[in-house]
Amino acid sequence: MKGNDVVNQWVLATAGSEYVVSLSPDGSGLVLDHWGPPLHGGTEPWSEPDRFLQYAFPQDAAPLEYASAGHRQTAFGELIVDRGDGATGARWQCEDTADPATIETSGSRTTLTVAFRDETGTLRLTLLTEVDTAHDAVRRSASIENLSDGTIVLDRAFSAGWPLPVGRRPRIHYLAGAWSQEFGMHAIDLDLGTFSIGSRLGVTSLAFNPVVTVESAVPGREPEAFGVALEWSGNWRLQVEAPFAGDRVRVSCGVDDETNRITLFPGERFDSPVSSGVWSGDGPDGVARAWHAYQRDRLARTLDTSHRPVVYNSWMATEFDVRIDHQLELAAVAERLGVEVFVVDDGWFRGRTSDRAGLGDWTPDPVKFPQGLDPLAEAVIAKGMRFGLWVEPEAVNPDSDLFRAHPEWVYRAADRPLLTSRNQYVLDLGRADVVAWVEDTLRGILDSTPISYLKWDMNRPISDGGRPGDPHGREWSIQHARGYYRILAMLRREYPHVTIEACAAGGGRIDNAVLALSDVVWPSDETGPRDRLLIQHGFLSAYPQHIMSSWVTDAPGTRDRSATSFEYRFLVAMAGSLGIGADLLKWDETRVARAAELVGLYRSLRHLLHTAEVTRHGEPSDPTYAIEYSPAAQDADPVIVLVFDHDRDRVFDHDRVRIRPRTLEPERRYQLRGTGTTVTGAQAASTGVVVPFALAVDADILVFDPVG
Ligand code: DGJ
Repeated sequence: MKGNDVVNQWVLATAGSEYVVSLSPDGSGLVLDHWGPPLHGGTEPWSEPDRFLQYAFPQDAAPLEYASAGHRQTAFGELIVDRGDGATGARWQCEDTADPATIETSGSRTTLTVAFRDETGTLRLTLLTEVDTAHDAVRRSASIENLSDGTIVLDRAFSAGWPLPVGRRPRIHYLAGAWSQEFGMHAIDLDLGTFSIGSRLGVTSLAFNPVVTVESAVPGREPEAFGVALEWSGNWRLQVEAPFAGDRVRVSCGVDDETNRITLFPGERFDSPVSSGVWSGDGPDGVARAWHAYQRDRLARTLDTSHRPVVYNSWMATEFDVRIDHQLELAAVAERLGVEVFVVDDGWFRGRTSDRAGLGDWTPDPVKFPQGLDPLAEAVIAKGMRFGLWVEPEAVNPDSDLFRAHPEWVYRAADRPLLTSRNQYVLDLGRADVVAWVEDTLRGILDSTPISYLKWDMNRPISDGGRPGDPHGREWSIQHARGYYRILAMLRREYPHVTIEACAAGGGRIDNAVLALSDVVWPSDETGPRDRLLIQHGFLSAYPQHIMSSWVTDAPGTRDRSATSFEYRFLVAMAGSLGIGADLLKWDETRVARAAELVGLYRSLRHLLHTAEVTRHGEPSDPTYAIEYSPAAQDADPVIVLVFDHDRDRVFDHDRVRIRPRTLEPERRYQLRGTGTTVTGAQAASTGVVVPFALAVDADILVFDPVG
């Protein structure tokens, strides 16, 4: 936070940008004066234009940080208040215009808090804006508190509005997909109107991810781009509105306003999820780097490799056919590969012979594990690996003892017949007794067996969410997400040695809130290498490599089944947090030995790969695609480039494939590891480096060691 001469304007500094807000001239809201490169000297605060377009009001034109129906007259507002008296909306006034803001600084972090009251004086709106000079994310949220003695309903209570100065027809990038096709990169040039994405599935969703990148269309400022994300894993909505007037689009996001209706009884308060944003002068790639820096610095509990072990997961080898003898055989090969944690996926618990039964009954299946899990866990640990387990604690099969004992614990809409999806129901995590049961069940599992890795899955959308008769029942998706966070936080607090992998039928629950409470996430069930590369390419546009769990399997891709080398599969997985999911008993000795070498290579480079800045070269569909990993200190650590060659028609000609690393320091000289080739950063960037394809004919890993 820097001082500024302008009264009631606050200059909030991030690592490489400034976010400048001020109290609007009439004291009714915060306005965004600047978001971009540091101005070193402030800027004029926003003021009302001399005249408005016909039919517009001052509040409609103001670049408000948070707008409210009833105050804004014609433009979109993030908040809709209903007191039941017919006068929908609220009009705000800063609680203390003489001293409007509280500013708290802790280390590199600064939080600006400004509170407003509505015209009746009985509703308080508090806007929080947090910045950090260690990264570029601006984190914003809103709290709405009922100080009246009546009931207030919030038909919409978004987290933030972001009035972005991007001109007319900006390009909006977003991530969309489906099961096995997550994180597809899409874009729309938004001229006029509203673009809206969201989830009504009770989880973040496979269909859309709560993040957009908005590229500036202002002449001369085109490389500039903004990223806006919602840190939330329940039902959500994010919209971009491009009005006719003005040069801004408004990104608004928060808990979904169709499926949620928030009731505030006297004294109750709603705290919105955080919406975070980043600015970059370097387009969408710069936005991705800014997200990654934030996720590494703020969201990751550690970048230590211990919470990103090399995983072996038996799901693709066995599905539900989990047997101790077979698992022990797999573990014996996993040990030889250099695997660090052996994870038993779905199928280990009571009655779980298919997806039709067992969910909810979280004790080892007595047929599959007559002596419980300990003999397997102990054997795995004796081989020098950690032991891990799959759970899906929110779900229950109708055919389970849990459901028979507690049919009232699942979501149901009054007397409507229950719907199954993947033969299961979802437990209502809005109920304190259910959350307590899940916590105790997980404690029971973790206390009875030496488990240090949990994969937490969730395999169905929540339908019929609600709790008839409960006045807060229309907040079920908010409560469900909070219950999930609460349990994850308990695991972190009470079992800090347990690594958490977040999963929801693949990548159905990945967002910045989940990143803050898990160590790795499973982006997709698609492990066919070329399809996986495409998914990971999209993933990396908003999320970082250290959390991106990826397995080497034998599976063909679903969309591109063209063959790749074994090494290519490894490089795809090494781009994130490497695991193996193949049926190891089908691998011959040569393959096992080669895999062990590749795991060793990965382990020797893992810390660098996970902590580096990532630059993607082109698209996975290009003949040659590459991912460059640049360390913070190039005088000590190498720049690493993973190269994927996709030219099926190439009569293989090495000299034709060149990589131009973008992040080598121009004056510095580098040696390409394993070769006699040396090159300066400038030479490499201009003429490129011939890819030796030493690893395989279609993939290589280039390590540029600094030598002077
Ligand atoms: C979906 C996950 O994405 C898979 O990896 C696997 O864990 C299955 N569920 C198990 O049911």
